[in-house]
Amino acid sequence: MRRMGVIKCFGLLLFFLVTLICSNIDGCEARKGRHWKQKKSSSTSLVRKKGNGKNGGSSNRSGHLSPPPSSDLPGTEYPAPPTAATFDVIDFGANGDGVTDDTKAFEAAWAAACKVEGSTMVVPAQYEFLVGPISFSGPYCQPNIVFQLDGTIIAPTDAKSWSSGLLWWIEFTKLQGITIRGSGIIEGRGSIWWTNTESDVDPINDELGLKLPHLKPTALRFYGSYNVTVTGITIQNSPQCHLKFDNCEAVQVFNMTVNSPGNSPNTDGIHLQNSRDVMIHHTNMSCGDDCISIQTGSSNINIHSVNCGPGHGISIGGLGKDNTKACVSNVTVRDVNILDTMTGVRIKTWQGGSGSVQSVKFSNIRISEVQIPIVIDQFYCDRSSCKNQTSAVALAGIAYENIRGTYTVRPVQFACSDASPCSDISLTGIELEPLQEHYHMCEPFCWQAFGELFTPTIPPIVCLQNGKPSSNRLLSDHDMC
Ligand SMILES: *[C@@H]1O[C@H](CO)[C@@H](O)[C@H](O)[C@H]1NC(C)=O
Ligand SMILES: *[C@@H]1O[C@H](CO)[C@@H](O)[C@H](O)[C@H]1NC(C)=O
Ligand SMILES: *[C@@H]1O[C@H](CO)[C@@H](O)[C@H](O)[C@H]1NC(C)=O
Ligand SMILES: *[C@@H]1O[C@H](CO)[C@@H](O)[C@H](O)[C@H]1NC(C)=O
Ligand SMILES: *[C@@H]1O[C@H](CO)[C@@H](O)[C@H](O)[C@H]1NC(C)=O
Ligand SMILES: *[C@@H]1O[C@H](CO)[C@@H](O)[C@H](O)[C@H]1NC(C)=O
Repeated sequence: MRRMGVIKCFGLLLFFLVTLICSNIDGCEARKGRHWKQKKSSSTSLVRKKGNGKNGGSSNRSGHLSPPPSSDLPGTEYPAPPTAATFDVIDFGANGDGVTDDTKAFEAAWAAACKVEGSTMVVPAQYEFLVGPISFSGPYCQPNIVFQLDGTIIAPTDAKSWSSGLLWWIEFTKLQGITIRGSGIIEGRGSIWWTNTESDVDPINDELGLKLPHLKPTALRFYGSYNVTVTGITIQNSPQCHLKFDNCEAVQVFNMTVNSPGNSPNTDGIHLQNSRDVMIHHTNMSCGDDCISIQTGSSNINIHSVNCGPGHGISIGGLGKDNTKACVSNVTVRDVNILDTMTGVRIKTWQGGSGSVQSVKFSNIRISEVQIPIVIDQFYCDRSSCKNQTSAVALAGIAYENIRGTYTVRPVQFACSDASPCSDISLTGIELEPLQEHYHMCEPFCWQAFGELFTPTIPPIVCLQNGKPSSNRLLSDHDMC
């Protein structure tokens, strides 16, 4: 009898999930009054040309050598490191007027920088560079190149520039040691793409009446690189995801900003996939989707001192789509503020997947006005309904510590799969209060969630089952990661 009741509630929950989580929640988009950072002033007013870059005032600075590093430290006998050359895009013919296509100049500056170890490619302040889809490709480049971005790079908005659809706008690939730094802005001018709804009913056109492709590009993507640093810059208004790392190792992202409206569709902040040893800290993200999205193949991910919101919070997944195997391990998220988002910290997997998510810790998370702060959803589905399947990406060793603040819908939701229950969930110092006390709020929800409460929680989470599930398939070959 009790089980019948539970199943009924569970059906209701699925309905709830489908209508609430899987669709874009209006409530999430309605309140976007507060951003964490002040918006930088509109980039269109940035153009201030210093004479004519190519022929006029500015001297040819490319190939200028920086002063050799001081070698007068007593007792140091090291050979002087190779002197670093700088390559300024203005010297390669870039106009920086925000209108002329500067793609070729960027390609030429890169070709030169690529040949010199430790060189710096310079995108100077106070110019606005219109640059089309571009690849800073590295298999034959020297190591440790710096991309010094102090100006603004803007994306083309005409359909012609995007041909039949591209996955990214600016990419860096196959580099050993690449740093993007500076106070510059990567401006995706994404608003013309955002109205292009998934329903295909209202295809949008550019100024010339040409249709933009349906595939929306990621603004900045790193692929197959080792020792990658992104710091100082702002990436804003991307058509889709802002910053993506795929197949990278030893990645550092800090002191940077992602900024787009809370109602811009699919504009993830930072997306990690097949990447290891990643540090993200002192970074502010406001966007229309996950602030950080951790996908399959990610391990040793360390996130701290980050502000997120508006957006959909920090998420692992969706994993296991289309019966794929997914592996994520050793993720730490600590000292994070999450404000005005759909979910806070979330793990989402599709039915039918395999593999596992293991060793995850969320600690010291300050939550404000979040619809559902703590979520595990093993029934993730971004359509109106998904087929019920038994296999699932297994979840084990998920720790939540000191997660405090206010929610607007439900404090905690653990919806785990029957065939592969969540195990070893630990909760310590959870204090979540409804934003408006008089409202009727949903209770904590658990389904097939096993673990331990180490301290009393607010509200009480009585639905977490103590101990281990009887059938734990985590160690089957199918799921080994
Ligand atoms: C999947 O299972 C749930 C719970 O048993 C049930 O409510 C739902 O109707 C099923 N969905 C489909 C598409 O079969
Ligand atoms: C600038 O100087 C470098 C090296 O002296 C030369 O190779 C390059 O062609 C020059 N560029 C322009 C735009 O004059
Ligand atoms: C990583 O990159 C930095 C900056 O480019 C460089 O100084 C450092 O030597 C690199 N480290 C390794 C291990 O390659
Ligand atoms: C952060 O980046 C900005 C440029 O956007 C720079 O001015 C500032 O010095 C950096 N702060 C730190 C602590 O590195
Ligand atoms: C992020 O926001 C905080 C709070 O507004 C601010 O102090 C900090 O400087 C911001 N960081 C960056 C990188 O802009
Ligand atoms: C987990 O990640 C941390 C840093 O994020 C690292 O120090 C630690 O060695 C990793 N553990 C394993 C088992 O890889």
